Order: sequence, then C-alpha cells, then structure tokens
Amino acid sequence: MEKLEAALAKAREARRQSQTSLPPSMLPPSASAVSFAPTAWAALPELTISADLARQNRIAAVTGGKVATPYDMLRSRTIRLMKDAGWKRLAVTSPNAGCGKTTLALNLALSLARQKELKILLIDLDLRRPNLNRMIAHSTQASIHQVLMREVPFEQAAVRVGDNLAIGLNGSPAKYPAELLHSAQAREVLAEIETQLKPDLVIFDMSPMLASDDNVGFLDHVDCALLVAASESTTLQNIDVCEKELAQLTNVLGVVLNKCRYADQTAGYGYEDYE
Ligand SMILES: Nc1ncnc2c1ncn2[C@@H]1O[C@H](COP(=O)(O)OP(=O)(O)O)[C@@H](O)[C@H]1O
Ligand SMILES: [Mg+2]
Repeated sequence: MEKLEAALAKAREARRQSQTSLPPSMLPPSASAVSFAPTAWAALPELTISADLARQNRIAAVTGGKVATPYDMLRSRTIRLMKDAGWKRLAVTSPNAGCGKTTLALNLALSLARQKELKILLIDLDLRRPNLNRMIAHSTQASIHQVLMREVPFEQAAVRVGDNLAIGLNGSPAKYPAELLHSAQAREVLAEIETQLKPDLVIFDMSPMLASDDNVGFLDHVDCALLVAASESTTLQNIDVCEKELAQLTNVLGVVLNKCRYADQTAGYGYEDYE
C-alpha cells in the first residue's frame, strides 16, 4: 500500500496547487443553488427505485441507514472538497471494467440527492458498455450519445428520481465513442443541459481508463475524478498507472477501494451489509 499512499500524496499536492487556478467557467455550488429551472426538471419522466430493485442491484443509498453509510461518508467528503475548490463536475472512472463505477456513481448521486437543497445530474458516459439503464431497470426512448450528437432532446434520454436527481441514460452503445467524447459539440451540449437544469453537482459515469482513450480527450471538461479500484482484482500497478494518468488530466479527488470483503469491522461496515 506504500505505493498507493505515495500516489495519493502526490495527487493531493497537485490538487492543492491547482486550487489556486480554477477555470473561470466553474461556478461555486452555492451560486447555482439559489435558482433552478423547475420546467426543465418537470419535463423529465419520473422513476421510482423499488426496494426489490435496490436489493438486487446494490443500490444502497435510496434511503439512508446502515447500508448507505459508506456512500454518505463519500458524499460528505466529496461535497466538502468540491465546494471548497468551487468544483462542479466529477468523473467516476476505474482502471478496468467491473470495478463498480456505475454502482458507486449511482449510489453517490442518490446519497447527494437526499440533501434536498442540492440538484444532482448523473450522466452515463461509458459509451461502449453503458449499464446505468440496466441498473435502474429503465429504458429511455433515446440515448445520451444521440443527445450529444444533437439528434434528440435530453428529456428523451433522461429520467428524474424525486425532484432533484436527473439521470441521463444510454439504451445502446455509441458507434464512435472516443470521437464523440472528444468533440467540442459534446461539451456544448453538456453545457446546455447544465444551463437548463442548473445542477449543483454533475457526476459522469465514465469508461475504464485502460480500455480505451475515450476519457483522455474528455477529462479536461471535468473538475475532478474519483478512481474506483476493486480490491482483489485491480492490481496495485494498474491503480498506480491510472492514478498518475488521471492526475495529468484532471484533479484526483481520491481512490476508492471497492468490493472489500474483509473490511475492518471496527472502522465501518463490511461486505455483508451489501448482501
Ligand atoms: N461494493 C461492492 N461489493 C460487491 N460487488 C459490487 C460492489 N460494487 C459493485 N459490485 C458489483 O460488481 C459488478 C460490476 O459493477 P459496475 O458498477 O457495473 O462496474 P463498472 O461500472 O465499473 O463496470 C456488478 O455486478 C455490481 O453489482
Ligand atoms: Mg459501468
């Protein structure tokens, strides 16, 4: 773990330095919290996540309580760090597929949305293997990649959970994900969606770092990123390589060690809480 500690220390230092030069476009969360566009939110079809679905798909943060605690702790740290820095856009990525990015992004969004004064936008940008729609068992008329290509409006590819969480979904993979994500048009469309919904925080569920270059040309559009690693399957070397690459592309908010079966019971909740 020494290598991981050293990598984290480096990322923290880089983050500390970068906080002095924030991009001018990044509004502090408090600035957008005062007004929001009720009509744009009302146009999104509402989705209710049932208790059965939550149990099946490890959706732990719909309501609070013991199983939501790890996500609530992550929520508090995320808000504090991002608010202090005036950051708004967070990417969730991992070295390889299957580390738990989508599970974490959804639970973090749900946990944040339990703070009713916050407006949260979660967007599936894993355009090769999108699975947020399957996780919440909902198919939209269209996909986010079509929205980014200006083929359909956002409300055809999105749902609303409660009054303050909007989720953009894909029903199918995109044909040219890297080119689309690297395009100026994709950023413009995402910025337009933000203008409409005025979210306090935007979470992008991204593709894995080692699988393609999809993220490389997009991560300068976000303010920070979380790297999700799966204990027992992600190697330390892969965490190290990805954390370094991520730190060159954006601010690394942290590395989340997921799927820990043998967590220290004195320091939190263990694996069995997710069964
Ligand atoms: N904390 C966890 N403990 C055990 N299994 C998990 C955990 N988080 C996610 N999973 C499972 O791992 C699999 C991959 O998760 P997913 O979120 O789809 O990963 P990714 O988006 O990184 O590909 C799913 O079956 C999911 O239920
Ligand atoms: Mg995923």
